[in-house]
Amino acid sequence: MGGFVITGLPDIQTKFEGKVTFYLVLCALIAATGGLMFGYDIGISGGVTSMDDFLLNFFPLVYEKKKRAKEDNFCKYDNHKLQLFTSSLYLAALVSCLFASKMCRGFGRKITIQVSSIFFFIGVILNVGADNLHMLIAGRILLGIGIGFANQAVPLFLSEMAPFHVRGALNILFQLNITIGILVANIVNYYASKIPNGWRLSLGLAGVPALILCVGSFIISETPTSLIERGRHAEGLEALKRVRGTHNVEAEFKEMLHASETARQVERPFMSIFQRTSFPQLVIGASLQFFQQLTGINAIMFYAPVLFETLGFKNNVSLLSAVTIGIVNVLGTIVSLLTVDRIGRKLLLLEGCLQMFLSMAAIGAVLMTNTGLNQALDSDSAKGVVIFTALFVTGFAWSWGPLGWLIPSEIFPLETRTAGYAVAVSSNMLFTFVIAQVYLSMLCRMRAGVFFFFSMWIAVMGVFVAVFLPETKNIPLDEMVTRVWKKHWYWKRYMDDGTRSFKATDILYDAYSY
Ligand code: BGC
Repeated sequence: MGGFVITGLPDIQTKFEGKVTFYLVLCALIAATGGLMFGYDIGISGGVTSMDDFLLNFFPLVYEKKKRAKEDNFCKYDNHKLQLFTSSLYLAALVSCLFASKMCRGFGRKITIQVSSIFFFIGVILNVGADNLHMLIAGRILLGIGIGFANQAVPLFLSEMAPFHVRGALNILFQLNITIGILVANIVNYYASKIPNGWRLSLGLAGVPALILCVGSFIISETPTSLIERGRHAEGLEALKRVRGTHNVEAEFKEMLHASETARQVERPFMSIFQRTSFPQLVIGASLQFFQQLTGINAIMFYAPVLFETLGFKNNVSLLSAVTIGIVNVLGTIVSLLTVDRIGRKLLLLEGCLQMFLSMAAIGAVLMTNTGLNQALDSDSAKGVVIFTALFVTGFAWSWGPLGWLIPSEIFPLETRTAGYAVAVSSNMLFTFVIAQVYLSMLCRMRAGVFFFFSMWIAVMGVFVAVFLPETKNIPLDEMVTRVWKKHWYWKRYMDDGTRSFKATDILYDAYSY
């Protein structure tokens, strides 16, 4: 692959050589398995909570309610403890990603990824052996800590390792793993629901991705950026040459050195993200994650089997429909991976909004006109709900799913990157928690209206993207401030005008290359 000439910096013209090497792809594939842990967990909860022997063991009241023939369709799973099973994980992830951000900055991305797999693995052991609700929830909390660490470190790792012109694609490997994790979980649930105590198998297999990540993490390199950030310049230079597969990394190395010199002057990154100059990235990072959850995706992902059962599908049919949705989710993500660095982030997000808006509203309309309190959907309407759900998920899969993680990982300058990204991740976890906790109650109270609620939010986020989101395609990470934020029609007012000097970094580079 050829070199790329970048213009637009005030006093330097940068030439980056952007090879995609085997080692880079290997590192990216291994780190991205962090997404498998997250995805498997998202997919497993809904199926497990609709298995009878799981309910009998831990939630006997829900089991009773489910069996009562005359129970209101929309309300049979409305139980706070059951919702807490799903959502406790996100609460733990929310808090832990703040610690993970400190670890990422102080000790590196690689060790943070390793720690994540260990927490996750211990959580799995507790879950598999659980014989009371406390053990079950304690296990969920450890899984959540693992996920908080992984979701903080993995997308940053991918974005920092990637040459800028394929950054989108490499980063989307994370989301691709999330979707594969969800799909595998749905398939596992489908079979596990047929065997006694199958829920233990479902929860236990979560250990597999954690193991892959833990073992694989010994092969991956630390990101050059993180090494340089921690003062290990010579190692950073070597790592950069290795992942880029060339000795011609001078320009990129200098830019990283410069970014790290600037970052070094910031002593308390968590405070500096609340400064005026960080405001644009903070708003975009946090709101993309907040909006991602308000699409209603997890109303579908966590509860697809429960939702389909609520609509009167039989247990196995509902898991099978969830598997179909899972396949569509993976395929849509692949489309995003192949297109994001060519057509850009904004267009994908806007198209996604349109598609999700229409399909969410259509699901609401079908349910509003069809579902009485106790009867199942007629077969045409049931098919309609599955088709519109699949359309919704495809729209999400090539837009807000991957880009919700990609964009916040690429917009912050180094000095605020780990802290800013932690705010974005915790915003995701917070709203994932809220939706997981209240969705079944919303469904019970608002009924079909809940789908209109989500489509209204989707319209709002479409407008937000059109007006406020700058395009970040093909911009090197360390040039975001100069080439994106300082040029944006609205956000530029928050940026200072200081130009970046490269003199000191020239000297440092010379010192390390000889
Ligand atoms: C979101 C998850 C969601 C998943 C669906 C992710 O990007 O963060 O909340 O369940 O996509 O594929």
